Amino acid sequence: MTLEQKAAQLVQIPYAQIGREKSEEWARRGVGSFLHVFGEDAKHLQKIAIESGAKIPLLFGIDAVHGHCLNRKATIFPTQLSMACAFDPELIKRVAQAAAKEISADGLHQTFSPVLCLGRDIRWGRVDETFGEDPYLAGILGAAMVEGYQGEDNAADTSVIACAKHYIGYGEATGARDSYDTSITYRKIKDTFLPPFEKAVKAGCASVMTAYGSIDGTPCTADKKLLKEILKEQLGFDGFVVTDWQNVSHLIGEQCVAENAKEASRLALESGNDMMMNAPEFYVAIIDLVRSGEADEKLLDEAVERILTVKMRFGLFDNPFRQADEKYLGCEEHLELNKEIARESTVLLKNDGILPLTGKNKILVVGPSADDIRCNYGDWTYFSHPLPDYDTQPVRPYVTLLEGVQELAKKHDCSVQYVKGCEINGEIAGGIKQAVKAAKKADVIVFACGDNILLAAEGCDRADVRLPKPQRELFTALCNTGKSIVTALICTKPLCIPEIDEHSAAVLTNFNSGMFGGRALAEAIFGEINPSGKLPISFPYHVGQQPCYYNQLPGWHCRSYVDMPETSLYSFGHGLSYTSFAYSDILFDEKTLTLKVSVKNTGKREGAETVQVYFRDLASSVMTPVKRLIAFRKVQLKAGDSQELTFTFTRDDFSFVNANEERVTEPGEFELMVGGSSADSDLIKKKFTIGMAPKSWTDQ
Ligand code: NOJ
Repeated sequence: MTLEQKAAQLVQIPYAQIGREKSEEWARRGVGSFLHVFGEDAKHLQKIAIESGAKIPLLFGIDAVHGHCLNRKATIFPTQLSMACAFDPELIKRVAQAAAKEISADGLHQTFSPVLCLGRDIRWGRVDETFGEDPYLAGILGAAMVEGYQGEDNAADTSVIACAKHYIGYGEATGARDSYDTSITYRKIKDTFLPPFEKAVKAGCASVMTAYGSIDGTPCTADKKLLKEILKEQLGFDGFVVTDWQNVSHLIGEQCVAENAKEASRLALESGNDMMMNAPEFYVAIIDLVRSGEADEKLLDEAVERILTVKMRFGLFDNPFRQADEKYLGCEEHLELNKEIARESTVLLKNDGILPLTGKNKILVVGPSADDIRCNYGDWTYFSHPLPDYDTQPVRPYVTLLEGVQELAKKHDCSVQYVKGCEINGEIAGGIKQAVKAAKKADVIVFACGDNILLAAEGCDRADVRLPKPQRELFTALCNTGKSIVTALICTKPLCIPEIDEHSAAVLTNFNSGMFGGRALAEAIFGEINPSGKLPISFPYHVGQQPCYYNQLPGWHCRSYVDMPETSLYSFGHGLSYTSFAYSDILFDEKTLTLKVSVKNTGKREGAETVQVYFRDLASSVMTPVKRLIAFRKVQLKAGDSQELTFTFTRDDFSFVNANEERVTEPGEFELMVGGSSADSDLIKKKFTIGMAPKSWTDQ
C-alpha cells in the first residue's frame, strides 16, 4: 500500500453529512470506512472502492444501538437501560443477534454498540444508552451483546462488528455535562469503569470507541496510557480503536491540547487510535507528517494492520458485498422477541394492591406519554439525529400504552376514556380541566407521564430531573379528584418523582421499551403478565442527591442531608411482583467459595425473581464499596415452590484495585448479601473469611 492508501484506511467518513459526490471521491481514494450510509448507496461506494487503488473493501458503520432503528423498516427494540431491567444476558444476546441480522440486511458491517459507560448521574442525557449504574451488570450484558452481534462465525452474512463505547469515564463528566472533564484516577478507572470493557474484550469485541471527554485533563483520544497500555497491552484488545465523531479536531478547538490539525493528528495516532471518525483533515496531515519525518510510518502500519485484520476476520475481503437477507428487517420473529423483552423489562415500582386491576372498571387513561410512540422509543431511532429528515411520522407496527389498555379492556370488561391533558413539556388549552372532568367519572386513572428526546438525549443534559411542570400540575389536579392513580412512567431514565410515588396507588415503568413497551405495561396493569423486571439504576428523591448509586464507598460523619435522606427512592435491583419471595438457608463454603441459598415463592401466583448476590470486603487496604453485585440469576417459581440456588465464585470475584493500580483479593473477612434488591431491608447476610492464597496460586 502507498502512504496515501494507508492514511486513507484510517479515516471514517460520514456519508449523510458530506453527500454522494464527495463520498465517491473518498471511496476512490481508498478510505477505510463510512458511517451512516444504507443499502444501495453503500453498495455503490463499495463497488468504487474495490475497483480503485489498493482494492480494499470498505467497512460500513451505523448507530444501531437498540436495533437497526435509523431504518424505518427495522425492529425498534428497548434501549439498553430498558433491556437491562430484564437482568437476562441470554435474552439480550438474542436481541443483539436479531439486530445484527437487520443491520447486515442493509449491507452494513459495524454497529456502534454496546454502550459500556455507567449511568450514575441521571442529569446526563445519555443514561438511557447505558445498562445502568453497575459495572458487573453492564459487563455481563455488554459481553452478551457483543457475542450476539458478532456471532460464532464472524464472517457469516448475519454477523456485525460490535463497538464497545465510550472508552472511558464518559458518564462521570463534571456536572453530568456531556464531554466535560472527568475527575477520576486510573485506580478508579481500573476498579470501576474498566471491568465492563474488559468483559467485552474477552468476548471478542472487535472495535472500541474513545469517549468525547477527558480524564483529569487528558482527552481520551490523546491518552496513550488508556489506549495503548491499558486497552491494547494489558487487556490484550486486538481489534481497532475508532475515535468518536471529530475527536481529532476536538483536540484543537474544544479541548485545546493541540494547535493545529497536524499536531492533533499526530497526537491521535501516537496515542493509539486506529480509525478517525469524521476526520478528513487527518488524511492530509498524517501524509505530511510522515513525509517530513515528524510521524513514524510504523504507527500507521500498525493501525492499518488492525483495521485490515478486522475486515478480514469479518469476511469483507471474501465478500465485500456480504449482506443478510432483507426478509430479516422487522420480521415476525424479531417482533415477537421484541414483545418478550419488553415484558421481561417491565418493573413494578410500587403497588398498594390495586394492581393487577380486577373488576369492571371505568378507566381514564391520561397523560402525554399515553399515545405517542416516540416516548417509548428514546434516542437513536429514525425520529432522532443523525439523519437529516428525522422528524417523521411513526411507522407501524407498534402499540402505545393507550392502545394496549384499550385492547385489553375489552377482554376484561372495562371501559376506557382518554384525555391527553398536557404535552410532555407544555400546556394544552383546557387540558387539565378536561382531564379532571373525565377523572370524576372514572374508577381508576392510568397516568402516563415521563420525558422524551427533547429532554434527554446526546446533547440534552438536564439540571432539573423532575417531571416537567405541566405534567406535575396535571398530576396534582388528578390527585385532587381523590381517584386511585396508577402511574405508568414512560421515560428515558429515572426521574425525581417522590410525589408520584407518594400519591399513586401503583407505579410501573419499562423506560423506553420499543414498539411494544406500551403493550407490555398494559399487560402488567391487567395482570396478563406478572412483572419481574428489576431496576439497573437507582431513582433519587431529588436531583441534589446525585450521584446516589448503590455501590458507593462508605460514608460516615454526616451520612445524609439535613433535608434529604442519602438513600434513593427506589434502589438498584428493586422491582416488585404480584407474588412475593422469601430467602433463607444461606450457606457459604469457604474452601470452594460456594454459596447456597433458598428462595421461595410465598405468594399465590407464579412469578420470576432475580436473585441478586452482593458482597462487601470488610477491611481492605483502600476503601471499597458498601456492596457490589457479583452474581444474579432469574428463577421462575410456581406459587408455594422453592428452589435452592448454588453460586460458585473465584477469589478474583472478591477483588478490587489497590493503590498501586493492581487488582488484588486481600485475605480477611467478607460479607455476602443475597436478596431481591440492593436495599439492606431486602437482603440476608452471611460473613465469611478468605484465607491467604494457596502457595501454588501465588507462585503462578
Ligand atoms: C457521537 C456519539 O457520541 C457516538 O455514540 C456515536 O456512535 C457517534 N457520534 C456516531 O454517530
